Amino acid sequence: MPIPTSRTNETARVIISEELCNGCGLCVDVCKDFGLVIEDGKVKATGNRIFGCIACAHCIMICPHDAIKIDGRFTSADDLFELPKKNEAADYTSLLNLLKRRRAIREFKDTPVPQDMIDKIIAAAKTAPMGLPPSDVNVLILDTKEKGMAFAKDYCDHLKNLKWIVSKWSLTLMKPFMSKANNDMFRDFLKPLIDTYTASIDKGENVVTYDAPLTMYFYGSPYTDPADPIIAATYAMIAAESLGLGTCMIGGVHPFTQNGKSAAQFRAKQNIRFKSREGLIVIMGYPRVKYHHGINRTFASVDQP
Ligand SMILES: Cc1cc2nc3c(=O)[nH]c(=O)nc-3n(C[C@H](O)[C@H](O)[C@H](O)COP(=O)(O)O)c2cc1C
Repeated sequence: MPIPTSRTNETARVIISEELCNGCGLCVDVCKDFGLVIEDGKVKATGNRIFGCIACAHCIMICPHDAIKIDGRFTSADDLFELPKKNEAADYTSLLNLLKRRRAIREFKDTPVPQDMIDKIIAAAKTAPMGLPPSDVNVLILDTKEKGMAFAKDYCDHLKNLKWIVSKWSLTLMKPFMSKANNDMFRDFLKPLIDTYTASIDKGENVVTYDAPLTMYFYGSPYTDPADPIIAATYAMIAAESLGLGTCMIGGVHPFTQNGKSAAQFRAKQNIRFKSREGLIVIMGYPRVKYHHGINRTFASVDQP
C-alpha cells in the first residue's frame, strides 16, 4: 500500500532501462523497500514490496549508468543534480565554527532580508531529511516586520480566548488527569508565557516574533512525522546563519494553534494550510547585537554503555 501524505497517496513508478542496466546491484542494496531484484543479470522491480516505491530516489542517485528512472510522488529523474565536490563542502571545523557562532537573536535591525536570501534559505532547508518522501512540510514565509507583527497580533488575540485553560480553577480541576510534569509546565511556563505575550502586544511590543524582518513557520499536515518540520526549520536556521543572519526558534505558537474554533480561525487568517502534530517558527534578520563569547552547553545525559 502506498504511504499517504497530504500531497499524494500514490506509489511511484520505477522504470528500468534493460539496455543501460549492467546488473551491478547497487540499487538493490540501497532500496530499503526490498522490491528490486537482479534477474538474468538485470535489475527488476517486483510487485513484492512493503509500501511500494516511496520515491526516496536512492536507486537513481546511486546508479552509475543512469539506468533507472522513477516517476511519481513529486519526484522524477529531472530532479537529479550533480553532487558538489567534497572539497567545496563545509568540513567539520568550519561547520562547528558556524554552529559555535550561532546565538539566539531577538534584536534585529530594520533592514529587510532580500528575496534571494529567502530563496537560498528555502533551497537549503529543502535538503533536510524527511520521515517519508515526499516532504510533507509546509512553510509560511512572512517577509516583513509588519507581517510578523500582524501574525503576532492575531496570535495574541487568539490566546486571549484560551486564557481560561491556564486559569487557577481550570488547572486545579485538571490536576488529577494530568501528569505532574504537564501540570508543572502549564502552571509555571505556559500560564506566564500566555500572560506575557498578551500583555506585551497590548503595549505594542512584539515578543512573539520580536519585530524580525523575516519569519518562517515550518509545519506539517495531519500525516506528517512530527520531527520533519523541526528538522527542516533547523536546516533553515543553519542556512540563515551561514548567510550572516541572526536567528531564533520560536516554539511558543504552534502548540496553541492546533485545537478549537479560535485556532482554526487564526490558521485560516494566516494562510496556515493544516493543523499538524508539530511546527516551529524561525525568526531571522540582521542582528542588532553582537556577542563576544560563546558558552559551552551540556546534554541532560550522554550514555555510551
Ligand atoms: C524548540 C525551541 C523553541 C523555542 N522557542 C522559543 C520561543 O518561543 N521564544 C523565544 O524567545 N525563544 C525560543 N527558543 C530559543 C531558546 O530560548 C534559545 O535557543 C535559548 O535561549 C538558548 O540560547 P541560544 O540558542 O543562544 O543557545 C526556542 C528554542 C527552541 C530550540
